[in-house]
Amino acid sequence: MWNTRIHPDTPGVPSILRAPGAKGEILRPGTYRRGMDQPLVSRMRPYGETIFARMTALATAHDAVNLGQGFPDTDGPAEVLEAAREAISDGHNQYPPGPGIPSLREAVASHQQERYGLGVDPDGEVLVTTGATEAIASALLALVEPGDEVVVIEPYYDSYAAGISLAGGIRRAVPLRRDLTLDREALTAAFSERTRAVLVNTPHNPTGRVLTREELGLVADLARRHDAWVISDEVYEHMTFDGAGHVPIATLPGMWERTVTIGSAGKSFSVTGWKVGWVSGPRELVTAVRTVKQFLTYTSGAPFQPAVARALSMGPAPLEELTASLQSRRDLLVEGLLGAGLDVSVPEGTYFVVADAAPLGVTDATSWCLELPERVGVVAVPVSVFCDDPSRTASLVRFAFCKREPVLEEACRRLARL
Ligand SMILES: Cc1ncc(COP(=O)(O)O)c(C=O)c1O
Repeated sequence: MWNTRIHPDTPGVPSILRAPGAKGEILRPGTYRRGMDQPLVSRMRPYGETIFARMTALATAHDAVNLGQGFPDTDGPAEVLEAAREAISDGHNQYPPGPGIPSLREAVASHQQERYGLGVDPDGEVLVTTGATEAIASALLALVEPGDEVVVIEPYYDSYAAGISLAGGIRRAVPLRRDLTLDREALTAAFSERTRAVLVNTPHNPTGRVLTREELGLVADLARRHDAWVISDEVYEHMTFDGAGHVPIATLPGMWERTVTIGSAGKSFSVTGWKVGWVSGPRELVTAVRTVKQFLTYTSGAPFQPAVARALSMGPAPLEELTASLQSRRDLLVEGLLGAGLDVSVPEGTYFVVADAAPLGVTDATSWCLELPERVGVVAVPVSVFCDDPSRTASLVRFAFCKREPVLEEACRRLARL
């Protein structure tokens, strides 16, 4: 238990010293019980094992088709894999430069220019990170002071909450509307003078929504009005379907100056295990993020950096190929889910689809997902794990379709038994 020497009236004690679940209770340094049974710092105690680890264990136990975790079951382009092998043989095995090797920073800058018309200086406005995950955590640690509020759109990717807690920030979650569009009133109400940053994710995990220029315009407007930073997670930027176009929020008027844009080679080139991501943005913001990143990992995967530079220099062809194949796999899974009696929100992007199991009588998707591997041999995750308020998404389930067609077909056959 806590040693609750509480100092509720102590001014200026940062929120990171507040015990979770005890609003207003403030613990001063040195007042924690330093027991062997409770080594984890208080601000990280709400974060136990992720649902993905639990679901993957269930998938193994029941030999189930794992549509829970978002990793592809085929590796990226052969040329890119070969480039990594070559890089190891050529001796790219020691610490690369902290901000990333020049050829990768140049490739990221060219990508932003060619794709979105953003003029990015590879020398100072690009930072290579250990996956987008490190980019998100470094950006939060760099920009958020203890006690600052960070607006997130709910459902949200699980590392956002943990990153905000690491920084000692306070999360302000704004749920999407039932039709998965941004809620203008709720978003406006979430911003205040305490808002330091807003975290945006488009194309959006888990819903597959691609935010429109108008929706991003609203976020941009609020960020400008409240002088907030924007951390824009665009790891699924290349996965948009049916002509839905991805708009980086940094391209909106006045937004480059206040936006940290994040990309991921793992997602774009189907090499999630390489953990190479990047940040681009104005020099001051990238320098701030780099200052934190250098003490988290200093630098990232030496042989993978030249390989990712090669991947980015291959132009749009491999990206378009992946998108086209994902779109047909999306259609396959959507049809299977509909056939199994679920309602489906057809995703405009990402490699996830959200289905409503309510027509099958499901009211608690978490229990349903825990039973599903044993019942029919399929793994999925409840959307409520991406939410502060689980009641709003109680019957919703996320399935990943970044798997080979025969795997998806097998999943559909199994789901049909429902
Ligand atoms: C929205 C979102 N952001 C970030 C990440 C993490 O990306 P990376 O593997 O490059 O760290 C993921 C991975 O699933 C994601 O879905």
